[in-house]
Amino acid sequence: MTAARLSALEPAIFELAARRVMARCDELARITSTPGAITRVHLSPEHARVNRLAAEWMREVGLQTRQDAAGNQLGLLPAADPDAPVLMLGSHLDTVVNAGRYDGVVGVLMAIEVVRLLQRRVDSPARADANARSPFDFGMEVAAFSDEEGARFGKALLGSSAVAGTWDDAWWELEDSDGTTLREAALEFGLDPGRIAGAARRPDELVGYLEAHIEQGPELHARGESLAVVSSIASARRFQLVVEGEARHAGGTPYDMRRDALLGASEAALAVERICSAQHHIIGTVGQFEAFPGAMNVVPGEAKFSLDLRGEFDGERDRVWDQISRELDAIMGRRRLRWHTREVHNAPALFCAPLLQDVVSEGIRSSLVPGRAADRSILGSGRPEDPTTLFSPAGHDGMAIGAITDVGMLFMRNPDGVSHHPDEAVSLGDVALGIRALAEAVAHLGAEHRSTQGAS
Ligand code: GLV
Ligand code: MN
Ligand code: MN
Repeated sequence: MTAARLSALEPAIFELAARRVMARCDELARITSTPGAITRVHLSPEHARVNRLAAEWMREVGLQTRQDAAGNQLGLLPAADPDAPVLMLGSHLDTVVNAGRYDGVVGVLMAIEVVRLLQRRVDSPARADANARSPFDFGMEVAAFSDEEGARFGKALLGSSAVAGTWDDAWWELEDSDGTTLREAALEFGLDPGRIAGAARRPDELVGYLEAHIEQGPELHARGESLAVVSSIASARRFQLVVEGEARHAGGTPYDMRRDALLGASEAALAVERICSAQHHIIGTVGQFEAFPGAMNVVPGEAKFSLDLRGEFDGERDRVWDQISRELDAIMGRRRLRWHTREVHNAPALFCAPLLQDVVSEGIRSSLVPGRAADRSILGSGRPEDPTTLFSPAGHDGMAIGAITDVGMLFMRNPDGVSHHPDEAVSLGDVALGIRALAEAVAHLGAEHRSTQGAS
């Protein structure tokens, strides 16, 4: 499949693929641990169910499926040469608590459609095909990562870190809110922790990793554009913090005798906002907050809260953490409190590979065919000449996969930038455009690969 042949496909074919993606996002949204909301965390029974469904859909387009030792669902379309490396396409199927239906999920489903279209399987054959081969010099592999959000164990990117071979055995002892360790959850899910190293891939097995994702911010919506190429993904650290004071009688304890842990933690949360908002591209969020013993008539003796800290560059992010730490020392000192912290996640910034940025830009450009009215009605209002480039403050699996291969990302407009919320949205037209752009990007990479391999 060349880019030219792909361009010859009717716009209606991309719309059909987008309709299937949207319907499947709805279907996956019904697989949740909390009826009426969408919550699907790592190694849960819901995780097992979505993996089974995704595997069925992968087989339908000729992919050979397997679940790896980290619970990632994979589907492979090998190249004619069995030793050829693969291009990985995908995203994640886990969610935050009370999530929207597109974060991650849409990227996995779009990858399946891209594999379908690049083989010209536009008719949804609904059968596995062990003889199907990639139309490129490289294989194509769809990855549905098991944990990008870290909603269960605090540590994010567990699935993609296993694939990247950066697994840390200390993570097995991480606990969820019920005190279940990651090791216990893996065993319960049917995985063997002793085999985790088997999920790791070598750099020479991969050509790169491409992911489509909703933007999770308002930039494309504000610009009235459908798609963007991603330049880099923010570096991230996550901390669990504990403030210790003294629990005492709410009525009988004068203010000058109180050591109120909740007030210390509250002042700390405000300091995070003050310090981070004064910086460029540094974002700090306190998303979990609890007071103990949690009674109306007791001064809180202990408070626990989380900090999610992101930055465009690792060094700036770390400098801001040092500043926050000093401020916490000062606040807690004034209030006669103690504080300590545990870092549960640390991922460096990821800069998308220039070649993959180029092919994604090329894909966006060729996905909009100027002057064809039919395209415009389906594909929205993107500007083909000059695709927008965005930095991603949101985290993505590429942050982990970047340790072993080149990463490229395509963003789709996210109305009002609402994400990690049930109102999260993306339009059918933008998904159709995104599928086309991603397929074109793969076709461009295929041509590029062939010419560089041929030249060497
Ligand atoms: C995941 O979406 C994250 O950015 O935390
Ligand atoms: Mn995501
Ligand atoms: Mn997310």
